Amino acid sequence: MLWSKFIQPRLISFACATKPFMIQRIKIVPLAKGTVLEIGIGSGLNIPLYDENHVKKVVGVDPSEDMQALAKDRINESPIDIQLVVADAAKIPLDDQSIDTIVCTYTLCTVSNPEGVLKEMKRILKPGGKFLFSEHGHAPDESVNKFQLRLEPFWKFLADGCHLTRSIPELLRANGMKLDKMETMYLPSTPRFVGFNYWGSAVHDL
Ligand SMILES: C[S@@+](CC[C@H](N)C(=O)[O-])C[C@H]1O[C@@H](n2cnc3c(N)ncnc32)[C@H](O)[C@@H]1O
Repeated sequence: MLWSKFIQPRLISFACATKPFMIQRIKIVPLAKGTVLEIGIGSGLNIPLYDENHVKKVVGVDPSEDMQALAKDRINESPIDIQLVVADAAKIPLDDQSIDTIVCTYTLCTVSNPEGVLKEMKRILKPGGKFLFSEHGHAPDESVNKFQLRLEPFWKFLADGCHLTRSIPELLRANGMKLDKMETMYLPSTPRFVGFNYWGSAVHDL
């Protein structure tokens, strides 16, 4: 209880707020436009990065009230209307084709049903809408990947279900999303097993 309610949410938020991860967020979050859905909003580290001139509203979905509680100050300080919803992103209480941009950072690694989440995203995203992502995952180097596979069971416990070996482009392509821009690199000053980062944007694969 103490671990899952207080210590783990703060540890995860702290780890996700390190400089290399914050620099990655700056590459995608300011591109969001219109009515935005953020999947796994967590402690709201992206909130200050939304461009108030282009974003009408942000709906932040996350099943963890303990993570969402850590976002309160950022929400209060934001000029943008931010609405939090406690829900699994595989079942989001939003209408079909109601969202202009979906933002997802460091969350596809953690969701227990990534195929279900992708299906929901496609349902909710308007035609022509963008999915903006920055995620860590499967590393291209064999030695790093072997270490990821060995560490993953322990890491999942430590980091609330976070997988080290998910290939984000494969996941997107296999679930009907078309990548229109993607870059990758090992984040500087970050252990390589958790620092291989994919970021970019995707659209409906029609
Ligand atoms: C590593 S944290 C990242 C938080 C935030 N996206 C960020 O970039 O700082 C992963 C987040 O995914 C959330 N999460 C886990 N399962 C989820 C699900 N099924 N649907 C939506 N969010 C989920 C967790 O509660 C947590 O807030």
